[in-house]
Amino acid sequence: MAVEVLPLTTADIPEAVACIQTAFADDPFFRWVFNKRSGFNLQRNAASMAAHFRYGLSCEAPIYIAKATSRPGDSDKAPCSEIAGVCWWFPPQPASEPVSWTVWAQDWLLSFRQLLFNIRFGGRGGLNVRRYWQWKQRQEATHAKVWTDPRGYYFCNVLAVNSEMRGMGVGRKLVEAVTQKADLEGMPCYLESSKGFPNLVIYEKLGFELVEEIDCVDGNDSCKLYCMIRQPKKAD
Ligand SMILES: CC(C)(COP(=O)(O)OP(=O)(O)OC[C@H]1O[C@@H](n2cnc3c(N)ncnc32)[C@H](O)[C@@H]1OP(=O)(O)O)[C@@H](O)C(=O)NCCC(=O)NCCS
Repeated sequence: MAVEVLPLTTADIPEAVACIQTAFADDPFFRWVFNKRSGFNLQRNAASMAAHFRYGLSCEAPIYIAKATSRPGDSDKAPCSEIAGVCWWFPPQPASEPVSWTVWAQDWLLSFRQLLFNIRFGGRGGLNVRRYWQWKQRQEATHAKVWTDPRGYYFCNVLAVNSEMRGMGVGRKLVEAVTQKADLEGMPCYLESSKGFPNLVIYEKLGFELVEEIDCVDGNDSCKLYCMIRQPKKAD
């Protein structure tokens, strides 16, 4: 299978959103934070995710898509060109520096867009807001503990590969689009995953190490997030 990694464009957003929605349908954190399945609104979720992608593009976040230009067993067919995976990172933000005006303005714009979606879709589309804020608080406390590098971290916000294209090197290519840049700059990278198996092994192969676990607990319903850091590799 031939795969090309390219920066995300506005035109790619609908396909990138669909890729993430499908890849995360069985994700433990997603199921914990959208726990009332009957209340889940796919359109509201897609609108929110598209707004987040627009936010990321406006903030010049490193966001990449992998395009499969041919698929396994497709040699006899016309080449296809579809999104095989998406990877979205936040650039490093030094702890001592305030966020830029662009990021500040985009934060407000995103909040405003979410407010409009709440009105248009009659709510948050099934998001358990209490659980969301519990996670946010625990995440902030964890970052304060494990983000010891004052220069900040490349932070993997989302990584998803279409299920039929997993295990073929697409995830590695998407991650390396940023880790190679991080290595050149001598910067560390960080991610969180709620799927221990097989993701811990996959990320270890990509140079990440487990540094902390975040337990999100609500009644009898819990979810664990595995926090991993990759230190920059020096050129040989
Ligand atoms: C996690 C995910 C992005 C990995 O993408 P992928 O395209 O399958 O990964 P790759 O094929 O590039 O594999 C990367 C490495 O992990 C290894 N690997 C892949 N799947 C594996 C598995 N199930 N068990 C053990 N190792 C595995 C590969 O061999 C490769 O190592 P190598 O290059 O040293 O041989 C993909 O499985 C996915 O989208 N999962 C669902 C969504 C998700 O959990 N996203 C992550 C949220 S943080």
